[in-house]
Order: sequence, then structure tokens, then C-alpha cells
Amino acid sequence: MTTLDRPEGATWWRGAVVYQVYLRSFADGDGDGLGDLAGLRARLPYLVALGVDAVWINPWYPSPMVDAGYDVSDYRSVDPRYGTLAEAEALLAEAHAAGLRVLLDIVPNHTSDQHPWFRAALAAGPGSPERERYLFRPGRGPGGDEPPNDWTNVAGGAAWTRVTEPDGRPGEWYLHLFMPEQPDVDWTHPEVRADFAKTLGFWFDRGVDGFRIDVAHSLAKQEGLPDAGHGATPGHPAWDRDEVHDIYREWRAVADAYPEPRIFVAEAWVDRPERLARYVRPDELHTAFNFFFLTSPWRAPSLRQAIDETLVEHAAVGAPPTWVLSNHDTARHRSRYAREPGGERGVNLRHLLGRPADLARGARRARAAALLMLALPGGAYLYQGEELGLPEVEDLPVEVLDDPVWRRSGHTDRGRDGCRVPIPWAPGGPPYGFSPPAAAAPPWLPQPPAWEDLAVAVQDGDPASMLELYRAALRLRRAHPALGDGTLRWLEAPDGVLAFARDPGFACVVNVSGRPAPPPTGTDVLLASGPLGPDGAVPEDTAVWLGGQVGG
Ligand code: NOJ
Repeated sequence: MTTLDRPEGATWWRGAVVYQVYLRSFADGDGDGLGDLAGLRARLPYLVALGVDAVWINPWYPSPMVDAGYDVSDYRSVDPRYGTLAEAEALLAEAHAAGLRVLLDIVPNHTSDQHPWFRAALAAGPGSPERERYLFRPGRGPGGDEPPNDWTNVAGGAAWTRVTEPDGRPGEWYLHLFMPEQPDVDWTHPEVRADFAKTLGFWFDRGVDGFRIDVAHSLAKQEGLPDAGHGATPGHPAWDRDEVHDIYREWRAVADAYPEPRIFVAEAWVDRPERLARYVRPDELHTAFNFFFLTSPWRAPSLRQAIDETLVEHAAVGAPPTWVLSNHDTARHRSRYAREPGGERGVNLRHLLGRPADLARGARRARAAALLMLALPGGAYLYQGEELGLPEVEDLPVEVLDDPVWRRSGHTDRGRDGCRVPIPWAPGGPPYGFSPPAAAAPPWLPQPPAWEDLAVAVQDGDPASMLELYRAALRLRRAHPALGDGTLRWLEAPDGVLAFARDPGFACVVNVSGRPAPPPTGTDVLLASGPLGPDGAVPEDTAVWLGGQVGG
């Protein structure tokens, strides 16, 4: 395996490109149809050659897998379907030797209902210390038949489930902002705080470089758990409470106790960039996913606004922004950009699917968006498969849908499986090299026949492929002193064109205007997302990286 220079120093994370490994869909080493650690270890050379700095691995802990591992039953172990703790340690050593840092995913808002704490809480009954680690409350109304407040869970139903007490009678209710199998823990309980700090240390001691924090904005709930009414964040009693920041100050101290910096990235779907910036104040988390950019329609004013507000708010607290286009919860951006932008934003953007689509246009825009994202100041997150131009799989048969959203929405929302389909590595039909030859089971979600041409081995070496565009961009980004952490300067440009310079000697032009645009004068093309016009004009839905003396 070739070794990359590791971005050294205490600030490597300020400009890092992190690749999201959705483990169950990345590579299957043992042939059971589910991705695993053996598969990931075998594919590390691919990630090194791609040119990323780090990986973020979705939860690998023991779990009943009601929510694909976001229902954790043991935070300090590895699910046997993914491998063993020894394999996880080997992966860490191999990744580090190859110059890759490794971030895990911690799920602190809720445990699985199969976690020993929750089982003990159910068995111990009302008023017991075991119940105090969760949010159990008596119901309202005659007989306590009504939930304790009006909060809803993410699938739309009540955020409360009533339990049957050990004596067989209907009893208390417990809070779950997500599925009933994911009870929320009580973060005012000292044992909860101490145990999660212990989990951080457990993995840091094994060399883990940091954590992505699942729903980082929901841990603190308003005292008394009052009704939310129609309240939105901020001000909602369950989301983005100011008290949550105390937790992250404690976590920062845990991370800072290590000589090699350990870092955090917050998953926090908050209302405004100003609220997001609070999570990355100097004594809190290092970075936070920038969902304002992800949810922006492919329109210049809206992209520009997301970029500007993000830069201003992050600069105010001295944190680097991050940029992200897709993840395992949102419709894949190639498929989003294949639709004409409606202007509306939504959390997972699945509402766009089902509208008429032009996937070739989606791919052109995805190529341009990649160059935009990788030229912006700060870090970036890539979601596995975007470097192959994978679209959302919109026609998965309902029998194979695994996402609890499908079931819990009363079969009205197909959920997130369409962006979680296993990676095609080689041509030759499913499983496209995802599983070894003669695997015992097919991939856990079926791969479409049309993915033949998107396989890694097919794109490898083809200069026109999405994969080679990402490789070239990441190579240039690593070598160019203007890219990564830093600032930008907007250049004058026609309406609908985003043009900015970064020092020294770099410019990026992204044409979202619907007609060709001239590039800045006195520059050389370093990389373009598509063919340029004969006079160097930048066609619509195209981005170009330029070097030289950039004015404006
Ligand atoms: C956010 C995760 O990304 C998502 O996949 C999960 O369902 C929820 N948090 C609940 O843990």
C-alpha cells in the first residue's frame, strides 16, 4: 500500500477531507451480504489512492440494528456481524500506517432498548434508580393514558411509549425522540455523563482520532419537559438547548487530555449558521456538519448565501467550516440536482424524488458541486459512492426496505435505504465485487443493473469519470497551498456565477447561471468539471479551478 503524508500537527482537522464509510454498504469481507471490517481493511488502499485524509465510520457497535446501528446496546465493543474488537484495532493500526485518521460515530442521545441500562430500568419499576438514567414519566389524563407531553418523534408519532410494569399493569411512559427502540437517556444524570466520557476514553486509548456526534443538539432537554406547542428550534424544549454546550465542554477536556489531538464533529440540524457556530466555540467541538450548504438548492444566490453566512459565523468563533453534499440520511445529491430546484429546503430532501429527473444533468451538477465544495475554505465530508456518481436508488422493492422510517411512517415515507445501497466495485453484475465470489448471501440491499458502468474498476483510469475527477481534485487540493483551511475573496462575476479567489494564486468559478460565462483573465485552467467552450468559456453547470494571478 502506498503511504500518504499524514497531515501533521495539531490542526490537521481544519482542512481535512473526511470520507464517510457507511460500513454495512462499503465492502463485505465474509460474504454474508453485509459490509464489515474485513471488507473495509481490504479497501484501505482505495481510500489512500482517492486522496482523503480521514474516514468517519458509522456505528459499528453491538446493536439490534433496528436503526442500522444507531440503536447501540454496548458502546465499547464491535457487533459480531462487523467483526471483532481485535479487527477494529488492526484497522486503526493499518489506517494510521497508511496516513489515514479514523473517526467513529458516538450515539449519546439514546441507547438501544436492549442496552443493559434500559432492560434494568424496565425490570426495576417506577421510582427506581435504574429508571433515572432515562426519561420515564407518568402519563397524563385519567389513568395516565396520555403521553406526558406533546413532543413528537422524528417519524411523526408521539415521542413517548408506555411500558408494562413488572406487575403486569400499564405504567410509566419513556421518551424517545427517535424510534421506540431508541430511548433517550437523561443527560442530567452523573452516571450517564461519566459513562459516555469513559466510552470516549476507551476508543481514544485505542487510537481513534475523533468522533462524529449523532444528533449532537438534542442531549439537553428543558427542565420539566414542558409541551412544545408548535415550537420550532431555537426555543424548543428538546432541541438545540443552550445547556447542551456544557456537555461538549466536558468532552473537549477529555479529548484535549491526549497528546495527539482528538477531534469532534457535530451532527446538529439547527436553524441558522449562528446557532451552529455555538457548537464550535474554542472550548467546545472542533467542527460541525454544514447542512445549510447540503440543503441549498442548485441556485447561485442560495449557494452564495449558505457559503457567506457559514464563513461569517465560523470566523466569529475561530472555527473552520466544513462542507458536505450527501450522507446516509439524505437523498443522494446527483439525484437531487437532477431535479429543477424548487427552492424549498427540507432535512433529508427526499421530497425532491419522484419529480421528473435528468440524471445526466444531475451528474454534471454533482461534478461542479464537488469542485465548489473542495475549493471552499475549511474541511469537507464525502459520502461513500458520491465519488462514483451513484444516484439514489428510487425503486427499491418495498419488501427489501429496512429503514424503520418506512414502517413507522405507516408506509408513507420510503426512508433512507435508497442512498445506502452497497458500493459497486467491479463490473459483472451484482454483487459487483461488494461481496467475495461465492458469497453465502446477496447484498443486504439489491444493486441496480444500471450500476455496471459506475463500478470502481470501470471508472478507474477513465479521465472522464467521476472517480478520476475526485482523485484529481483531491491531489490538487493536497498540493496547492491556497486550498483547505483559510479564507476566500469573492470576484466580480455575471449573475448566477460564483467566482472566488484564494491566496496564493487560485480561483474557482462555478456557473449556475444557465448560460456560458467567461473565466477570470490571466489564469490557467488547473481542473474543470466538464469540457470548456473553445474560448475558455465556462458552460452552465460547470466549475473550473484556475491558477495564476487572480485579480478582482
Ligand atoms: C442521525 C443518524 O445519522 C441517523 O441515521 C439516525 O437514524 C438518527 N441520528 C438517530 O440516531
